[in-house]
Amino acid sequence: MLARVTVAAVYVSCDRIVTCAPGALPRRRDFDLGILEGAAMRIENGRVSWIGSREEAPDESVYLQGTIVPGLVDAHTHPVYAGSRLHEFALRAKGATYQEIHAAGGGIHSTVRATRAASYEELLARTERVLARMLRHGTTTLEAKSGYGLDEATEIRDLQLLGDVASPMRIVRTYLGAHAMPPDFADRREEFVKTLIEQTLPRIARERLADACDVFCEDGAFTLDESRRILAAARAHGLDVKAHAEEFAYLGGARMAASLGARSVDHLLSLPEHDFAALAESGTVAVLLPGTTLFLGKERYAPARGLIDAGVPVAIATDFNAGSCMTESLPMAMSLAVLKMKMTPEEALIGATVNASHALGVSDVCGSLEVGKAADFLVLEVDDPREWLYHFGVNLVREVWIAGRRVSDDIPC
Ligand code: NIG
Ligand code: FE
Repeated sequence: MLARVTVAAVYVSCDRIVTCAPGALPRRRDFDLGILEGAAMRIENGRVSWIGSREEAPDESVYLQGTIVPGLVDAHTHPVYAGSRLHEFALRAKGATYQEIHAAGGGIHSTVRATRAASYEELLARTERVLARMLRHGTTTLEAKSGYGLDEATEIRDLQLLGDVASPMRIVRTYLGAHAMPPDFADRREEFVKTLIEQTLPRIARERLADACDVFCEDGAFTLDESRRILAAARAHGLDVKAHAEEFAYLGGARMAASLGARSVDHLLSLPEHDFAALAESGTVAVLLPGTTLFLGKERYAPARGLIDAGVPVAIATDFNAGSCMTESLPMAMSLAVLKMKMTPEEALIGATVNASHALGVSDVCGSLEVGKAADFLVLEVDDPREWLYHFGVNLVREVWIAGRRVSDDIPC
């Protein structure tokens, strides 16, 4: 006789659930965390099917001591690379700037050389270790960019690698072929941009190797016009678009990308006030990366307060990458958002959950704990979610669950 297969519902209960609901729209002015004291949740088929009070849950529910929050969404990372730029850390301490190191052939260029030379297996193992560290710090959904290959073969290999990575995380892949101009194309910029637009981008879209396309629109990287052409082509091929914009110089990349319907514009340290209203109207999410400002030893942070006050939805991400921000910890970036950009802890929490899910186009799946969404959540050893950011640089994540499964048990150390 065949056993009847039923998917049993699992109940979890805890001291409180920080739902971050509602997550249907990016949050602009209301940063209520939706906290339910003494709460419980039913999980079926990896999704939340009920949320209510602990008294209503059956006796056999699994009690998780502490505070449940939605799994974090890191909306900007560059995790696929080889080599080490440790020496730049000391160079910057001696006064060299990020741009000077880049212009002298170091920076992104040195990581590109190491990444091109690395074997697939080495790169895969390194990337998996990075993702495991992110997961231990509470990231359950991740945007991951290519961009350390620059040539077609390496960019495609690295996007495929992100598809092959052994990780329970949800991964949104972004093609960043326009991360830097390879030195051998310095006198043939147009040839590089044309090949990217006419050959590599269509292939990546056709083979569904990426969900989105990004560009580094910056002095010393890609001009406003080159960036516009690349993003417009990406849209035409059905990819989402986003941009690294106004990190060092103001080129107008954020407005340009927003006018093309970008899901996000990222960095924005040099964004002037007169662009805030245009951004607010566009619906594009501003992804701010305070870890990078700290790591590069800069004084000027992105204008988070001005953006929020103008009604721009703001997300917080790590910008984990080979050289300008070496941290896998999204809670660390959230603490910096409060300490350095004067965001409230509530704004930072919404910024790394709901608003980040909108920056990635995955808000129907994750970013808040609501009926119908994935049961992606963390158990924290705090009584108040704000304490998580207050206690900076220390990992207070006790458990990580993705799609209703406790994955923190299997994370390699
Ligand atoms: O977002 N700004 C461009 N890209 C990265 C840095 C990459 C690198 O330095 O390797 C960033 O900060
Ligand atoms: Fe970046």
